[in-house]
Amino acid sequence: MMKIVLCGYMGCGKSTGGQLLSKKMNFDFVETDTEIEKKENSSITDIFQKNGEIYFRKVENRVLKEVLGSSKNEVISLGGGTPCYANNLHLLKSNEEVKLFYLKMTAQNLTARLIQEKQKRPIINHLQTEEELEEYIRKHLFERQFYYLQSDFIIDANTKTVEELGEEIIKLLH
Ligand code: S3P
Repeated sequence: MMKIVLCGYMGCGKSTGGQLLSKKMNFDFVETDTEIEKKENSSITDIFQKNGEIYFRKVENRVLKEVLGSSKNEVISLGGGTPCYANNLHLLKSNEEVKLFYLKMTAQNLTARLIQEKQKRPIINHLQTEEELEEYIRKHLFERQFYYLQSDFIIDANTKTVEELGEEIIKLLH
């Protein structure tokens, strides 16, 4: 059994890349955020608003354990913060089925992508201008890279299409 797990900052292409890769590999596709929404019967934004981030992180940890416990081949897209909280990184690193990939992208490219769709993301939806957003992402990414960089493989996602991302992941697995 194999679990191809994609991590990285919001907007780096984990979901679209993961979905395409799962089709190519004929693996199930699982997104931890979607599993959280199903379990809580609520959107990520509403969970943050009603229950707060600490509650969200607890559910995220539980969902990760469940997803990693399934006896299926899977491509798993994590939430941007998943490897950085609780014992999540340890769960990923100590599981022999897991191949962890970090989709690395610059703060500048992430900003250009996220400025369009920050409304759905409670962590950044309070930031008004593009400059504020980029400043925030730069600092936040610096803190989070400590976790992301412990992945088994690091992929430069800046200049790749989702197809190319998938191809590179498949190549690295061989
Ligand atoms: C988060 C990223 C989101 C989601 C939640 C928190 C984060 O996932 O899990 O809003 O802390 O970076 P995406 O990376 O899919 O946007």
